[in-house]
Amino acid sequence: MKKIIIAIDGYSSTGKSTIAKRLANALEYGFIDTGAMYRAVTLFALNNGWIIDKKVNTEALLLELPNIQLKFVPNTELGKSEMYLNGTNVETKIRKMEVSENVSQIAIIKEVREKLVALQQEMGLEKGIVMDGRDIGTVVFPDAELKIFMTASPKTRANRRYKELLDRGDQVTFDEVLKNVRERDYIDSNREISPLKRASDAIEFDNSDMGLDDQFERIYNYTLRVIDKS
Ligand code: DC
Repeated sequence: MKKIIIAIDGYSSTGKSTIAKRLANALEYGFIDTGAMYRAVTLFALNNGWIIDKKVNTEALLLELPNIQLKFVPNTELGKSEMYLNGTNVETKIRKMEVSENVSQIAIIKEVREKLVALQQEMGLEKGIVMDGRDIGTVVFPDAELKIFMTASPKTRANRRYKELLDRGDQVTFDEVLKNVRERDYIDSNREISPLKRASDAIEFDNSDMGLDDQFERIYNYTLRVIDKS
């Protein structure tokens, strides 16, 4: 069967990664969570003390940017890939609230985006990939054979994220999480470079009132039709 590129974009906590991962497993495709890459660069800046009160020391970060190494390494036990930053597994650390609160400030930096987009394009050279993010269908792979744009109401998304964080043992309040979801929506959609928006040829998918299995069934069946026609 012909291999295609599947671009899944959308707002934070719309369940993009969950669906993308399942789709990749079912199709035996690679899966790339590009948000993890922006999160890893954010963690790097935080670790170096280059983000204070949400202000980034861009000069210091840009000097080190060429030396930042990002890699997805498969974890066979967990059946998923994990993000490594300069050789260290940072998969847990990049999901913390402190990273979520600062990542949008890192994602607006042109040079960071250029580096990460180039890496992402390299990962998709051989197709057979499901990539999720904010600009995959618009910038990274504008010619992707299948583009999906996921949405859900801010409250639904904050609720999902809140539960996830509590499950991991993080001490957060629902209001904090909702505020973060809204802030990121605003910054991600209004930034100058590659703002979050639906590609004109993407299909929109609102999953506010839909269970995971139902979503997956629909997207999977649609994907098979697209692959068939490609
Ligand atoms: O998908 P996520 O919530 O883990 O992404 C974290 C942040 O990274 C998100 O707020 C915006 C940014 N991002 C981006 O600008 N472009 C991407 N392709 C992926 C993520």
